[in-house]
Amino acid sequence: MPGIVIVGAQWGDEGKGKATDQLGDQVDYVVRYSGGNNAGHTVVVGAEKYALHLLPSGILSPRAVPVLGNGVVIDLDVLFDEIDTLAARGVPAAERLLISANAHLIAPYHQTIDRVTERFLGKRRIGTTGRGVGPAYADKVNRIGLRVQDLLDPSILAQKVAAALEQKNHLLVKVYNRPALSAAEMTERLLAHAERVRPMMADVARVLNQALDQGKTVLFEGAQAHHLDVDFGTYPYVTSSSPIAAGACTGTGVGPTRLDRIIGIAKAYTTRVGEGPFPGELLDDVGEQLRQAGGEFGTTTGRPRRCGWFDALVVEQAARVNSFTDVFLTKLDVLTGWEKIPVVVAYDVDGTRHDVMPMTQTDFHHATPIYEYWDGWTEDISGARSFADLPGTCQAYVRRLEELIGVRISGIGVGAERDQTIMLHDLI
Ligand code: GDP
Ligand code: IMO
Ligand code: MG
Repeated sequence: MPGIVIVGAQWGDEGKGKATDQLGDQVDYVVRYSGGNNAGHTVVVGAEKYALHLLPSGILSPRAVPVLGNGVVIDLDVLFDEIDTLAARGVPAAERLLISANAHLIAPYHQTIDRVTERFLGKRRIGTTGRGVGPAYADKVNRIGLRVQDLLDPSILAQKVAAALEQKNHLLVKVYNRPALSAAEMTERLLAHAERVRPMMADVARVLNQALDQGKTVLFEGAQAHHLDVDFGTYPYVTSSSPIAAGACTGTGVGPTRLDRIIGIAKAYTTRVGEGPFPGELLDDVGEQLRQAGGEFGTTTGRPRRCGWFDALVVEQAARVNSFTDVFLTKLDVLTGWEKIPVVVAYDVDGTRHDVMPMTQTDFHHATPIYEYWDGWTEDISGARSFADLPGTCQAYVRRLEELIGVRISGIGVGAERDQTIMLHDLI
């Protein structure tokens, strides 16, 4: 089972980091294929808690080679800060890390543009993480981006930074009323990291294809999620990349036939951070109780996450578009103690019932949830290690979600720790 992809099935923060870490000691390579340090993946190992933003979560497993694919956008300051912080905690990363020479860089001016654009949008803002991710991808598509390999040639890098800044400085000065940025200073800041990056740079597509030819196991760790995807998400309230499973191909250079298993990570309820439609959002005390019980505060920005009950339509669409072979249901323990647990099974859109997500964004904005109510449980399930350990009503809830999603649930998370997991089917 060599090519495995982990994809968020909702709006992010489903627990992809924990799932990746758990599989880490069984895989040879663990690869980020999209996004940048807008991600926040938390892994708890005993008393230690790691918040990873740019490096793949599999970095905590000594066996796996961590890789950043061409689809990732890299802020070099963040990268080396993360590497050094991990090294200080006894996790060596720098020696093993491979970085695609084709990956794009986030320059300091991308962060500036991200922040001023959001401010300028006012009420129409996206609620980005402010890390410069969107502007870096915009430059990539606009063909004025900077790539990791440009660090090898200072004069080329200087030319590219100057070209990118020419237009941006007009915008910053004339539209946003900000000071112009110095191309020389930006170039210098990027080049300061060049010698550290040089030995990590690799032809990632070649390395991964060779590994797969040899029967090695490669785990592609998705960041963000299906509903934040630039094509399939709730546009324009999305991220600027392709977190879907297909992104693992374009973001690393392996063909679609090399992906053998696609694991959707779905929270047992729903959360979203940032702006955008969320039909099942609970704006009352119930939402607040879920937020507190689940510790739903962003790993990257600390923002409170918006909360709602499990929305089967949201996960079903993700299952279809990504061809999930398995679903890993996380944070089931957070639902302990509710008398009834509602599940969104359909939407009402202006008087019409929808059993799948509507085709248009306007309809999605007008959707109100139709719930089904399942009996809850009061027993602490955080010590459960097999499906049979779960109370009957809890089992029935899981089986109903499985039926609604249409994909088998192969793993269940009952706590943040590595071993707080129930496996129903092997994932590797
Ligand atoms: P990611 O971005 O998908 O990796 O998810 P985050 O790390 O942003 O958010 C998930 C949070 O839930 C983290 O704090 C995890 O430690 C925690 N977590 C993951 N799985 C479980 C689980 O099954 N139960 C509980 N209670 N917490 C979990
Ligand atoms: P992980 O990998 C949750 C959201 C932001 C914003 C939108 C665009 O931890 O699941 P961006 O900075 O990417 O341009 O912001 O996407 N967002 C996330 N929400 N989890 C994430 O990552 C996210 N990455 C981006 O809040 O709404
Ligand atoms: Mg997260």
